[in-house]
Amino acid sequence: MHDDILNYAKRLKLSWIPQHYQEVEAQSQQEFLLKLVEAEVTQREEKKLNQLLKQSTLPTVNGETFIWNDIQLPSGMTKDFLLQGDFLEHKTNLIFYGGVGTGKTFLSTLIGLTIIRTQAKKVKFYTVASLVNALLEANNNGNLGKLMKQLSKLDLLILDELGYIPLHKQGGELLFQVISMCYETRSIIITTNLQFGQWNHVFGDQILTEAVVDRLIHHSHLLIFNGESHRYKQSILNSK
Ligand SMILES: Nc1ncnc2c1ncn2[C@@H]1O[C@H](COP(=O)(O)OP(=O)(O)OP(=O)(O)O)[C@@H](O)[C@H]1O
Ligand SMILES: [Mg+2]
Repeated sequence: MHDDILNYAKRLKLSWIPQHYQEVEAQSQQEFLLKLVEAEVTQREEKKLNQLLKQSTLPTVNGETFIWNDIQLPSGMTKDFLLQGDFLEHKTNLIFYGGVGTGKTFLSTLIGLTIIRTQAKKVKFYTVASLVNALLEANNNGNLGKLMKQLSKLDLLILDELGYIPLHKQGGELLFQVISMCYETRSIIITTNLQFGQWNHVFGDQILTEAVVDRLIHHSHLLIFNGESHRYKQSILNSK
C-alpha cells in the first residue's frame, strides 16, 4: 500500500505528502485533510509568487520608505490607486516624468512589487534600452513573435529610462510595435526625463513619435517628480 501511495502522490506531484503526513497533528480526519490541502495551497502560492517576482526582473529595493512629498499626482489620484493597481483595471498608463534621482525607478518598482504580492499579477520591468536590445536580438534570430507573445501576457509592463539613450530606427519601430500592442489591452508605466515634445530625439522620427505619444497618453496619467535628486541628498548627508 505504501508504494501505491508513493506512486500516486508522485503522479499528482504531491510527493511531500507521503513523506510528511505523519507529522500533521489533527483531532479528526477532516482536520487532517484540511491541514494537508492547506499546506499544499500555501506552498503552491508561495512558489507562484517567487516565480512572478523572479520573472519580473524588478530591481531590488533596500527597504527604504518612499517619500511622496515632491511627487505631483494628478488631482483626485490617491496612492492606493497606484499601489493597489487600480489603474490596471482600465488599462491606464502611467507616465513618470522628472529629473534624475527623484524616485521614478523606485516608485515604479514599488508599484510592480506590490501588485505582484497582493494580486499575483504578471509584471515585467525593462529599461527601454534593454527591451529594445531584446527586441532587436529576437528580430535577428527570428524570435520576435515569441517575445511579443510573452509581452502580450503581461498585466503591467514597466519601461524605465525613456530618453537617456536615442534609439536606432529599427529599435524605435520595434518599441512602437510593443506600445501599439499594449494600447488599450494592458498598462505600461514609462519613466522619462523628457517632455513629450522632446521624445522625437529618442525615436528620431516625428511621425513615429506622434504615433507613440498618441497611444501612450490616450488613457494615461502623468505624475511629475519634482524636487532634488535623493542620490545627491544622500551623498551630501553621507559626506557630512
Ligand atoms: N521619493 C523618494 N523617496 C525616498 N527615496 C528616494 C526617493 N527618490 C529617490 N530616492 C532614493 O534615491 C535613489 C535613486 O532614485 P531612483 O533611482 O528612483 O531615481 P530616478 O528618478 O529613477 O533617477 P534616474 O532618472 O537617474 O534614473 C533611490 O534608490 C532611493 O534611495
Ligand atoms: Mg531611474
